[in-house]
Amino acid sequence: MQETSKNRRTIRSFVRRTGRLTPSQSKALEELWPKIGIEHDTQILDFEVVFSRSAPIVLEIGFGNGDSLAQMAEERPDKNFLGIEVYEAGIGHCLLMARDLALNNLRIVAHDAIEVLEHQIPLASIARVNLYFPDPWPKKRHHKRRIVQPAFLDMIANRLKDEGTLNIATDWAAYAEHIDEVLSHSDRFICTERREHGGELPLERPRTKFERRGLKKGHRIWDWRFEKKPNT
Ligand SMILES: C[S@@+](CC[C@H](N)C(=O)[O-])C[C@H]1O[C@@H](n2cnc3c(N)ncnc32)[C@H](O)[C@@H]1O
Repeated sequence: MQETSKNRRTIRSFVRRTGRLTPSQSKALEELWPKIGIEHDTQILDFEVVFSRSAPIVLEIGFGNGDSLAQMAEERPDKNFLGIEVYEAGIGHCLLMARDLALNNLRIVAHDAIEVLEHQIPLASIARVNLYFPDPWPKKRHHKRRIVQPAFLDMIANRLKDEGTLNIATDWAAYAEHIDEVLSHSDRFICTERREHGGELPLERPRTKFERRGLKKGHRIWDWRFEKKPNT
């Protein structure tokens, strides 16, 4: 059975950024959304209908401007990519990339990923979840907004197929510690690879916009692959 939240969530992992859309991003939202966008709803999605075919699903949470998501979708036409993001200008940018690269294997939901996971993503349906450079929420009083929390990990594990993976990257040392700590206590995931590097060793992903930003500031990068534990 799908989980339901008893209490309405008040703590979110994002604040809505009202970055101005360029005219081409606005046009993309108008014209390309009907083909690529999926409305947030409380109905479970049927991925065969959504993608008009059956293929392993890669889910990216918080794809930003979608550069890396679109690149991955172009490189892996054998997989279906679903991106979730709340930043409108980023979604517009990603739609334009999907059009320019003629991608048929990419769909987008413009809503809070936690609610999308809870309401729309079938259990045991996803091959891989990507969470790249999630907002680090550096102030102590904001740590509760960090998306990587035990309840989030349970939600992801429930939606991954057996042997499905959760791939995370960050450029924020204190968030890397938090991720190590929370995942080390998880009985749902096992770490199958962990890298700390200076941008030269991304783990099965392209370089992202926020990674480039972090590298310019001299940050280190941490990459993990966690595999869902069997029979959880
Ligand atoms: C620091 S940015 C990283 C963007 C991109 N992954 C990259 O590496 O360039 C984090 C993104 O996650 C998005 N985000 C945070 N929480 C989210 C949520 N609950 N649902 C959807 N998007 C979320 C934010 O809007 C933001 O664009």
